[in-house]
Amino acid sequence: MEQKSRSSFSGRVGFVLAAAGSAVGLGNLWRFPYLAAQYGGGIFLLVYLILVVTFGFALMVTEIAIGRKTRLSCIGAYKALDKRFGFLGWIATLVPVIITPYYCVIGGWVMKYLFTFVTGQGMTAADNGGFFDSFIGFDAGSLTATMLDFSGPTPWFLLFVLATTVVVIFGVEKGIERASRFMMPILAVLAIFVAIYSLTIPGAMAGLKYYLLPDFSQFSLSTVLGALGQMFYSMSLAMGIMITYGSYMKKENLLEHSVTQIEVFDTLFAFVAGLMIIPAVVAFNGGDPSQINSGPGLMFVTLPMVFESMHFGEIIGAVFFLLVLFAALTSSISLMETIVSVVMDKTHMKRKPATLVVMVIILLVGIPSCLGYGPWAAIEIIGMQFLDFFDFISNSVLMPIVAVLTCILVGHVIGTKVIADEVKEGAGAFHREKMYHVMIRWIAPVLLVTILVSELLTKVFHLFSI
Ligand code: TRP
Repeated sequence: MEQKSRSSFSGRVGFVLAAAGSAVGLGNLWRFPYLAAQYGGGIFLLVYLILVVTFGFALMVTEIAIGRKTRLSCIGAYKALDKRFGFLGWIATLVPVIITPYYCVIGGWVMKYLFTFVTGQGMTAADNGGFFDSFIGFDAGSLTATMLDFSGPTPWFLLFVLATTVVVIFGVEKGIERASRFMMPILAVLAIFVAIYSLTIPGAMAGLKYYLLPDFSQFSLSTVLGALGQMFYSMSLAMGIMITYGSYMKKENLLEHSVTQIEVFDTLFAFVAGLMIIPAVVAFNGGDPSQINSGPGLMFVTLPMVFESMHFGEIIGAVFFLLVLFAALTSSISLMETIVSVVMDKTHMKRKPATLVVMVIILLVGIPSCLGYGPWAAIEIIGMQFLDFFDFISNSVLMPIVAVLTCILVGHVIGTKVIADEVKEGAGAFHREKMYHVMIRWIAPVLLVTILVSELLTKVFHLFSI
């Protein structure tokens, strides 16, 4: 791991594209819209935006600077800054281990929808959730039959994991990277097109209002926690990934600018995804935002109905899900790659066996998420299905813990000056330094601890009151 000549990105544009490519994925297209719908629309959007430009900015600057300074990936980097904080690298590494399996489950859902549209059956999916519910709720009687039947999610999950594994083993990354460079802009254009179309559906304006205008009566601490977890997830923060990316960044590249650009990219994608889905779902539900039947299935329920009402909807739907699949694959590949690189570093295994071991772990941890809405629906962990539970543990518990400890490490142990100096390398200036300092030392840790404690207490009370 201690490297002699660490490879680096060709330049600042290369760095921004790579980091943004890792950031834009299912988090923006699938997770953001359903959370926004669930947590009150405009108020969620507002809280999210505020968090992105303050805390998200500060944390991303910190992680990239730590990486560029130490030239190590996260396990080594935290240890190099302070021995006592070495464990933080391990917690951060655990996050992708929890996220990747259920990320692949959702990737499998996307594959199923792509298949459905390509085979000309897209319109059967436009039935306000019936298709989706019977898909994820699929139960063929015996477990083996359920695992193998393409009417349910499991074989699609297996396919998605397989596709990811193949790329990680054979490293056709170059091709994937090149493809995603032209697929991502097409995805952006198509998403904008669909969003504009969604807004023309009769009744969509009520949804647009719900999405854009904050209703402060809907505000609560859990809105903030939801937005916070989403921010970590979407910007790939608090899991050591940006530290690794930072370690590949050249000293003369402008760090602060790059962070701003990645943020703008990532947030625009999420915003447009919300525009595409939320006004449409409100329109299809008779114009009443309170009737939104939100949850992880939102995208899969709403978009088919949008496509059905379009000319050439079947084709547009097929292209759309293909592009989403691509965005999902590029993200799952880099998620798996992080786990594989840790396994290779720590066990000195070769790439192939290490990848296979990681694949088995992903399969084992992912299967419960796959079956959790179907045959295993009766099993709940602290009131949640498996997928929701894994999502909760990583985004609402582990990532805030990593974030808060990083703030304490930087703000009160090594000092924010170390990071600020690193940011100034090559740039000379750090425009938002004052804000950065106050954010990392005081605002972020206090906010994070408050939210984390309150949310955990709520869950515990919930648990014991049942
Ligand atoms: N940010 C990605 C998304 O929005 C998901 C993600 C989280 C990710 N951590 C990652 C992607 C690490 C690549 C690498 O979908």
